[in-house]
Amino acid sequence: MTHFHYQNGALWCEGVPLSRIADEVGTPVYVYSAAAFRDHARGFRDALSGVPRKHLAYAIKANPNIAVLRLLAAEGYGADVVSGGEMARALAAGMPARDIVFSGVGKTPAELLRGLDAGIGQFNIELEEEGVVLARLAAERGLTARAVLRVNPDVDAGTHAKISTGRKENKFGVPIDQAAAMFARLSALPGLDLQGVAIHIGSQLFDLAPLEAAYNRVKALVDELRSSGHRVTRVDLGGGLGVAYKADDRPTPPADYGAMVECVTRGWDVELMFEPGRVIAANAGVLLTRVIWVKPGVVNPYVIVDAAMNDLARPALYDAWHDFAAVQPTGERMTGNIAGPVCETGDTFAMAREIDRVASGDLAVFHSAGAYGATMASTYNSRALVPEVLVDGDRYAVVADRITPETILAAERVPEWL
Ligand code: LLP
Repeated sequence: MTHFHYQNGALWCEGVPLSRIADEVGTPVYVYSAAAFRDHARGFRDALSGVPRKHLAYAIKANPNIAVLRLLAAEGYGADVVSGGEMARALAAGMPARDIVFSGVGKTPAELLRGLDAGIGQFNIELEEEGVVLARLAAERGLTARAVLRVNPDVDAGTHAKISTGRKENKFGVPIDQAAAMFARLSALPGLDLQGVAIHIGSQLFDLAPLEAAYNRVKALVDELRSSGHRVTRVDLGGGLGVAYKADDRPTPPADYGAMVECVTRGWDVELMFEPGRVIAANAGVLLTRVIWVKPGVVNPYVIVDAAMNDLARPALYDAWHDFAAVQPTGERMTGNIAGPVCETGDTFAMAREIDRVASGDLAVFHSAGAYGATMASTYNSRALVPEVLVDGDRYAVVADRITPETILAAERVPEWL
């Protein structure tokens, strides 16, 4: 969070005071630090410097803003995409198609086709039928689809159930014990160049042990495939590294992750693919908001802010914690509940939280909101779609407009028979 710092008693992002952004753009608004994105991107790459052949595909679902993608493309990152829409963004940001990985458990045939036409570098096949369809679509066009088979290693990642993906009852990947037979059938198909396997066991992982266990299972599969005569040149290790949301959170540092990967994958003789999302984006952004009212409560007062669950869904969806801090703290503290204006009790960011004392009209931020923030926003309660700002040194730009209810209303129709 070092690129968000207090200077003369006020919170700044790099060289820009957040109060200036609030005055000029309004609130709520996401504010990103370009320097933080660059630091995290370089830090993750440096952590893997001991891995000889690798490709970094930023999981753009974490923060798909086109300016963010352009910045990360300049850092040498490709993209991990999960829909035709994300693919279009990555291409529009200037990421070469060859550097794009197309993941996702429900890619439609139309999306597969768009990926083939664009020349996507790697399709991650999630079920046998998808591989068959992809092979057919490619062969019909005289193309070859470069692909890997995503396996489900049946490992408990020890994270929130809603973001765990590597247990056998989850919808992702093919069961690892069926993978070798499936690989053999798929690799025989014309139109498909099956190069290896992929895994991703979950997100916000604090512990290396489940990742290491999953990687070892993948290595056993690679050995089995090779002993059956298959060429395996690529293994996609997914994303999932956790970040600190609270001051006392101790996530695995990328350097420790890199050391583990280097050790576990030594001698694999493959190109390793990585799909980091949160570790690049989360602590590169805040959600800037203004306190509307401080409403007396039965036990603690309710701090009602102008950001809501539609702008930052994580607390409502996953009971996630985001630090809350005043932009101009007085030094006094209070215990309060923090809630948004949406008409649901679930629109509560925190209960009985010790926070900076704030009053009506004050500015505040939710920290660690750069990943899975703006991208998960909605217009529920006919609220505007929250805008995004990118700060770079002492300048900033609005990189996504506030989409107003009027604009959304203009896309709706009353049929003539009503
Ligand atoms: N690769 C695949 C195949 C994924 O499904 C994901 C995340 C990633 C990579 C990136 O994972 P990361 O490095 O960001 O942990 N909305 C939730 C997180 C959902 C993650 C979904 N998949 C949240 O706000 O916590």
